[in-house]
Amino acid sequence: MIREGKVCFELNLPEVVSSRMEVFYNPHMRENRDLSLLLLLTLPFEKLKVCDPMGASGVRLLRMLLETQKLEKAVYNDLSAESAQFFRKLLKNHCVDESMVEIHQEDACVFLRRHRDFHYVEVDPFGSPVPFLESALLSLRRHGILAVSATDTSVLSGTYPSTCFRRYGSMPLLSCEFYHEVGIRILIKKVVEEGAKLDYALEPVFSYSYRHYFRVFFKKQAGPKRADRVLAQVGYLLFCDRCLYRAGVKLEGLQNSCPYCGNRLLVAGPLWLGSLWDRELLEAMWQLRGAVELSENSLKLLKRIRQEATLNTLGFYTLSAIGKAFKLGQPPPIQKFLDIFKGVRTHFSGEGFRTAVSHQEFLERVHELLQRA
Ligand SMILES: C[S@@+](CC[C@H](N)C(=O)[O-])C[C@H]1O[C@@H](n2cnc3c(N)ncnc32)[C@H](O)[C@@H]1O
Ligand SMILES: [Zn+2]
Repeated sequence: MIREGKVCFELNLPEVVSSRMEVFYNPHMRENRDLSLLLLLTLPFEKLKVCDPMGASGVRLLRMLLETQKLEKAVYNDLSAESAQFFRKLLKNHCVDESMVEIHQEDACVFLRRHRDFHYVEVDPFGSPVPFLESALLSLRRHGILAVSATDTSVLSGTYPSTCFRRYGSMPLLSCEFYHEVGIRILIKKVVEEGAKLDYALEPVFSYSYRHYFRVFFKKQAGPKRADRVLAQVGYLLFCDRCLYRAGVKLEGLQNSCPYCGNRLLVAGPLWLGSLWDRELLEAMWQLRGAVELSENSLKLLKRIRQEATLNTLGFYTLSAIGKAFKLGQPPPIQKFLDIFKGVRTHFSGEGFRTAVSHQEFLERVHELLQRA
């Protein structure tokens, strides 16, 4: 018997969860589901029409029905007949009013093209979300939320740069310490672009990297001016792997050599240079944290992101990157860095922190550290 929130069910879980399971359920995605429930609670609409076009076991939708009390309609779709059947049984076992649920079984893109006006659409495929983005954002109403998960994190983070370029139209950067953040910013750029070509503004409001996936929630607005304003926040990352200089620039700001140490600069992008979080939304989620049953890890993640979002920087530093670049030997504990740089920790890495100090100041403080060491 498996229990997740208010949902209980029986399922034989293999030792390793894989896409070959007849009915897909991944217990490690609990945090993913927890946070989507919490985010739903913050939406300003009274009654929500929510769609999971690749619904799998249906646990996510059922939890939304049982735990948020905000759904008017839960629309489920999955290509797999076994999954749809499993979901039907799940609904029956939990005595859900049938009139609140629709169940479909077709290709997600075809399905989404025939539907409109969802307040919330979940894009949670195996691997890359790219094939589903356009259909998903068309099916979403204005001010609605698009939730995108990507499990092709190694592609986005730079292990396979040519695949990243082919799939996302951007160059990643494995050789910087915040390569996961670069990946998530490339994913955001892709969604922003998919929206912009249809005169929609898709703005990221909550992003995170966890275990083997990236996850970003976008708010949809319509109109060419709004779309242009969002698109204007796309650009390039310049990075120096000698002195850790980093900067976000537009095309005309691209340059070859580091203004601090003269080293040749590395370039990633195009990618999202804007904020990864809407702080008001984070605050609302934090205030509502008691309203749904969150796992300990979900709560920890939310707490850290809430602190992290107070510093809206492009990239962060890690102790090992600083140690290696400046030959610090054994770097001092992270608390020392947080004090020196007035930093906040990042959820992207256990040894990472963000700081608002300029690069000049960063270099000066590192050198002071070196002298004292
Ligand atoms: C990662 S699972 C979704 C997990 C689910 N959203 C949850 O929260 O538990 C992906 C699901 O997509 C389904 N699927 C794969 N390709 C599809 C397609 N083209 N159209 C619809 N469903 C598809 C699979 O059968 C599988 O159940
Ligand atoms: Zn440099």
